[in-house]
Amino acid sequence: MELNRRTVIAGAAAAGVAATTLGTGTAQAAAGSGKPVKELFGKLADGTKVYRWSLENGGTRLKVLSYGGIVQSLEIPDRHGRHANVVNGFDNVDDYVAKSPYFGALIGRYGNRIGKGQFTLDGKSYQLSVNDGVNSLHGGAKGFDKHVWDVEPFTRGSDVGLHLHYTSVDGEMGYPGTLRTKVTYTLNRHGEWRIDYEATTDKPTIVNLTSHVYWNLAGEGSGTVEDHELRIAASRYTPTDAGLIPTGELAKVAGTPFDFRHAKPIGRDIRAGHEQQVQAKGYDHNWALDKGITAKPEHVATLRDPRSGRTLKIATDQPGLQFYSGNFLDGTLTGTGGRTYRQGDALCLETQHFPDSPNHANFPSTVLRPGQTYRTTTIHTFGA
Ligand code: GLA
Repeated sequence: MELNRRTVIAGAAAAGVAATTLGTGTAQAAAGSGKPVKELFGKLADGTKVYRWSLENGGTRLKVLSYGGIVQSLEIPDRHGRHANVVNGFDNVDDYVAKSPYFGALIGRYGNRIGKGQFTLDGKSYQLSVNDGVNSLHGGAKGFDKHVWDVEPFTRGSDVGLHLHYTSVDGEMGYPGTLRTKVTYTLNRHGEWRIDYEATTDKPTIVNLTSHVYWNLAGEGSGTVEDHELRIAASRYTPTDAGLIPTGELAKVAGTPFDFRHAKPIGRDIRAGHEQQVQAKGYDHNWALDKGITAKPEHVATLRDPRSGRTLKIATDQPGLQFYSGNFLDGTLTGTGGRTYRQGDALCLETQHFPDSPNHANFPSTVLRPGQTYRTTTIHTFGA
């Protein structure tokens, strides 16, 4: 959608980070489960270096940028053992800064939208940065996806991973409280990719962190994902208004195109003409997971590409899952493999609290108070 592209670019411009690139380098992660390898990926306009970390374990190869904690590449094998990069991305910093629709990025402080960028907490009203029409999307004009994170590699037993740190100062993008954030990416010996999010605050605030990876299990840039089969363990979803802000209703998926309780190809009902789909140009909704908030991550979604046999299973402790069918990809972005991304050429599955929760008393709370630690985990298990 034009609106989104424009707002993303406006965000980058506001951040003053028109960038220059130094090339992508050639370092490879050591085979097996060696230590993460660091290389220079490029530089921001102000000279800040952006590094790329490569790690590999259990057949999964992950490349992560210090800018936005972006997953730039994620390779997994197909049923014949052939690896492919299954996430959308760019091969240079400039494109990430200038025009990325959050490819692979860490999202904060608040994943998805907050209506008019406004909320009230403890009787005080806050106005957030507005960057999607009248609404605030993915943390505002300069969200966590547009900051350089401190990255610290680790190996622990047979695990390899990265700790990513970012401190968001009190008032940044309009959010109250200094938020200290730590995100850990871990690859275990089974090739599972785990994300652990942690945050603390010094004033009451709201928080909802997520990861914005665009998946195409047939390989990024290989065409539509409409033949991918998806299952989501949710009997209800949160319908939205025209600006994609939840109305507050929890609607039943039964008898609608939103029913993914049994695996079905994404394309099967995507043109069914349901008003919620017409409005969103496809699927761009939050599914209220049947399990609700859980102490431990539970399996909530499975994605499968019948051609390659590759599967992705997602487990989370979060109450919601945003399934976005790549509706705003419009053939204007060229990815890492040199091919353009068109509508529906990738999809996102964002584990999260419900969009606009601070404005809906019936949605689970996203409030974080001093002395509390926000903790959430999402696990991606791959197969073929
Ligand atoms: C999320 C939103 C979409 C869109 C993408 C980025 O998934 O729900 O509406 O903004 O991010 O383009």
